[in-house]
Amino acid sequence: MLSQSGLAKAKLLNMHTKALIRPFDKWRPKPASFKPELLALHDVAVQFITWLTVPTAQTLAAKDGFMPAALKLGFTPFARPRGVLVVFCEDNLKLGAATQRALAPIGDLLRRAAAADRFTGKSGSSLEIVAPGGLNLPRLVVIGIGKEGDLTPRDIVKLGGMALGKVPVATTNATIFAEFASGPLKAAQIADLVLGARLRSYTFDLYKTKRKDEDERPGKAQVDFACANPAAAEKAWARAAAIADGVVLARDLVNEPANVLYPGEFARRVSGLTKLGLGVEVLDVAAMRRLGMGALLGVGQGSAHESKLVVMRWNGGKRGSDPVAFIGKGVCFDSGGISIKPAAGMEDMKGDMAGAACVVGLMRALAMRKAKVNAVGAIGLVENMPDGKAQRPGDIVKTMSGQTIEIINTDAEGRLVLADVLHYVNKRFKPKFMINLATLTGAIIVALGQEYAGMFSNDDKLAERLATAGDATGERVWRMPLGPEYDKMIDSKFADMKNTGGRWGGAITAAQLLQRFVNKTPWAHLDIAGTAMGSPQTDINKSWASGWGVRLLERLVEDHYER
Ligand code: BES
Ligand code: MN
Ligand code: ZN
Repeated sequence: MLSQSGLAKAKLLNMHTKALIRPFDKWRPKPASFKPELLALHDVAVQFITWLTVPTAQTLAAKDGFMPAALKLGFTPFARPRGVLVVFCEDNLKLGAATQRALAPIGDLLRRAAAADRFTGKSGSSLEIVAPGGLNLPRLVVIGIGKEGDLTPRDIVKLGGMALGKVPVATTNATIFAEFASGPLKAAQIADLVLGARLRSYTFDLYKTKRKDEDERPGKAQVDFACANPAAAEKAWARAAAIADGVVLARDLVNEPANVLYPGEFARRVSGLTKLGLGVEVLDVAAMRRLGMGALLGVGQGSAHESKLVVMRWNGGKRGSDPVAFIGKGVCFDSGGISIKPAAGMEDMKGDMAGAACVVGLMRALAMRKAKVNAVGAIGLVENMPDGKAQRPGDIVKTMSGQTIEIINTDAEGRLVLADVLHYVNKRFKPKFMINLATLTGAIIVALGQEYAGMFSNDDKLAERLATAGDATGERVWRMPLGPEYDKMIDSKFADMKNTGGRWGGAITAAQLLQRFVNKTPWAHLDIAGTAMGSPQTDINKSWASGWGVRLLERLVEDHYER
């Protein structure tokens, strides 16, 4: 987020830039004496000065940290709420003791208002009273939760989102009572509630230079959670905050446009995470060429931006124990290449790096909460563009594994990138398992819509664990089939395989290609084309990019792979 001082700096530097460029503009060759070499020289000089002096949005954003000017969160005792008051209520208007005490001054106003509005505390309903007489508060919001016994941790995260959603935009102070009818929430439950609120408050408005009143999110508000033991709640939140920051980072990366977030810039931002203790290596084209990554490099060869492979490592587990590994598709923009996509909706393909963004968000979360696990994150960063140098249908590329792939459609590029990264990670790290995430196919959206991600796996235990973590977090996965009949569909006349398998079962044949690069290592592929972006708005996400997968995989690691 551009801070006020950041904006001022930007303006100042802009003035310098103009001053510096002005003399060059005088020398700009006039059309009459048109000399293309001179014009090109002039443009290069101007571009160079601009590059030197203008702090583009991304450099400012990176300097100010990844987090937008977040909601100010606090933890207080139940006494003396400030600002908008949000409380929870169960069926038949049942309130907790601290809540009753706080609302005592309004007498039977709540009961009468509830009757007038037919509000009884049913799950999903709410009641609002503006400037309630007797309380010195601008607004009281009562959120119905139904029966507390029915609430899962996932529901509590949702409630946090709902509660924040009820805080009006222009609010400066709000207090959310972390209490159900049975009494105050436990610290871990409060952390879930705050997580929901934090995710709900996320907006991506880096590039809006004019703000409308209704755009002002309660991002600037101080939101306090009233609880029985504020210190314990704050401690529990520190852990959940790591997850929230990971999701926010993933959303930011996916929302960024491709002119800002190309492979080099993406790698640079990941490199900034070393300050959390993450190891980060960036492999450039030359390094990947030496490794023989012909499939990944083929995808990026038509782009003006160099491809990168970024490897992140977090060693919080037992020394020497095999790591778990996460691999992400990072196609910073997918035009389709020579098999170019239709114009309508192509702008969404700036989000074709959502798999990579999730891996980065996850690694950040693991590092920030010092997870007791050894983990590797690897992302293949490329841009898929049509160009004189771009790869063609019919081309045959050689992967690092030695297997060859015939390119039928240059738009089936994600699997080419992943083929090399999966093989590389498997060979170098001998991981316990590999999970890859990719906005891989439109076909998975046809099959599952936007509620479930497609899951393909060669390992029942890993698949089961992922499904359970999905139900717990609400980032759900639906297992899809693999099998030799589907595998046959990608055999090629000219090479070991081809990169598309025809119209039918498109998400499955894509998964079959990936499976040819994982050997016997337990592996799961999550096709997140439907869930990572443009998904339906929820209580905890109002952004185009959802940051899907960070909470799912964090849960998986926490439940099964920490020492
Ligand atoms: N990135 C796309 C898949 C995609 C589509 C993601 C819509 C998100 C929303 C992928 O690279 C692609 O183009 N897949 C093709 C494969 C086809 C050419 C075999 C597709 O799904 O149409
Ligand atoms: Mn594509
Ligand atoms: Zn793609």
